[in-house]
Order: sequence, then structure tokens, then C-alpha cells
Amino acid sequence: MIKKGIILAGGKGTRMSPLTKAVNKQLLPIYDKPLIFYPLSILMLAKIKDILIIVNKGQLHQYKKLIPDGKNLGMKINFIEQKNPVGLPDAFILGEKFIGKNNVAMILGDNFFYGQNLSEKLYRCTNLKKGAKIILHKVTKPELFGVAKTKVNNNKILKIVEKPKKFVSDKAITGLYFFDNKVIKFSKKLKPSKRGELEITELLKKYQKINQLTSEFIGRGGAWLDTGSIEDYYKTSAFVQAVENRQGLKIACLEEISLLNKWINKKEILKQIKFYGNCEYSDYLKKIIKK
Ligand code: TTP
Repeated sequence: MIKKGIILAGGKGTRMSPLTKAVNKQLLPIYDKPLIFYPLSILMLAKIKDILIIVNKGQLHQYKKLIPDGKNLGMKINFIEQKNPVGLPDAFILGEKFIGKNNVAMILGDNFFYGQNLSEKLYRCTNLKKGAKIILHKVTKPELFGVAKTKVNNNKILKIVEKPKKFVSDKAITGLYFFDNKVIKFSKKLKPSKRGELEITELLKKYQKINQLTSEFIGRGGAWLDTGSIEDYYKTSAFVQAVENRQGLKIACLEEISLLNKWINKKEILKQIKFYGNCEYSDYLKKIIKK
């Protein structure tokens, strides 16, 4: 079972400047909550409660104001600062001590997932014992993403291509990954690419070479949105607003998931209501404990 998870929540946020000049992207709102709540909720739905959040140097205090240490969610949340955003695999080099001898999940701080049976699928992924597993989603513009070609009727990956010029596959590689412990060793062997970063595709290729790269597919009932550009950011916000207002249920309410997972009880929720103060999010928490 994978019991540890990393959220990569630093980055330059260039595409969203000037919004990201003073505040980290993951602390900006997606409708009614900070973006970081969404990837965190995904790890929680996978029943992962030992988490490392990687943030930019100098921004730790901002995150700690929002998520002090996870105790209030019945979790263990650690933080580590990344000096420079040198690439996604850096997560496993910085996180070496945190990972220890375990396997690990990693989610990008700006990725949004939603869909039916998602929790069940995620939990299944945590069963990974050997190799790596990536989560794929069908897209209309594969040329904008890293894509994976899979075996027909199989979840084995045959080929990975970053932003393909010619059609290879329309299955984009999302920002959620499950790795065995070799990920530390493999990441340390990576050399910076032409753009000067350690590339996740190169890391995945190392697993594919030894025939240990598999995938899980988010079906058509599911959504994966990358919130990296201003346009996508507002689209994601609108999506959350539409779903929440229609159903009266929140997406990524951390306390609700913790309660469902039986990591906390109503007493902790009351503490959280006090922590957030008089707001619509607290009103929602009050409703949950009345049920
Ligand atoms: P990117 O989208 O590659 O980069 P970014 O968020 O800095 O945005 P931009 O391209 O506009 O400059 O990063 C994906 C996620 O991973 C994002 O949440 C930031 C995070 N990240 C880090 O925390 N450290 C890193 O070294 C990199 C490359 C990304």
C-alpha cells in the first residue's frame, strides 16, 4: 500500500503573472477554496494521510497559515522548501528522507481531478508494489501535453512522447503519479534537459524501459483540468461553482473527507469552524456535523 504522498506546490507560475508575483499559484482561489485544497483532497481520497508539501523558498509561512500541520485533519503534513523550481522529479530528491524505504504518490499542486468512482480508482492505485503508474485522460489537443500510447486492452505503456508533433495518442499524462521506491534512485540519475529542468517524462521512460510502467484511465465521466494558465484557472473555478451550486455539495472540502475517512470526529470539525471563522465554508461544515 502507498501511504505517503507528495504535493509539488512551488513553481514559477509565470503564465499567471502578475497574479503570482506576491502569492503562490496554489494559494489563489479556485471558486471558494485555495487551489491547494484540490490536490490535497485527491491524496486524501486515496486514503493517504502522510503528506509532504513542497513549496517555494520563502513561502512556507503563507502555507502554514492555511494548513498548520495536518493534525486538525487527522493527518501528518510536512513542508519542505524548494530553492529553485528545477523540475518535477526534484520532488523525489527533496523528499528522499520523507519517502524513506516506502513507495510514494505525487500530485502537482495545480492539477484538478473530479469524477465518479474516482476515490475507488485512486485507492486501487495505492496497491502498487512495483514500478510506476500514471493516470491518463483523453484530450482533444494532445499536441499540448505529454501523451502515452497504451497496449490495446491493457494498461501497459508502450510509448511516451512530450508534446507530440505527429499524432501518437490522445491520452494525456496527468499530474498524478504512483511510484515504487526506485523513483529516488532514478530521479538522481536524471540530467537537466535543454530547457534546464529535470523532466518527468524522462523519469517515466526509465520505468517504461524496464517494462514497469502501467496506467489507470479516468473515463469520460471524469474531469482533469490543469489550472496553469489564467484561462484554465477561471474555467476550473466556473466548473467547481457549477457543480457545487447544483448539488449543494462541496468539491475538496478537506474536513468532510477526513470525517468520511474516520480520521477526525465532529469535535475537530468544530475546531476548524472556529479556525476558518464566519464564512460560507464554515456554514457548510456546520451542516456536515448536523447530519
Ligand atoms: P509547471 O506548470 O510546470 O510550472 P509553474 O506552475 O511554475 O507555471 P509556469 O509554467 O506558468 O511558470 O508546474 C506544475 C506544478 O508543479 C505547479 O503546481 C508548480 C509545481 N512545480 C514545483 O513545485 N517545482 C518545480 O520545480 C516545478 C517545475 C513545478
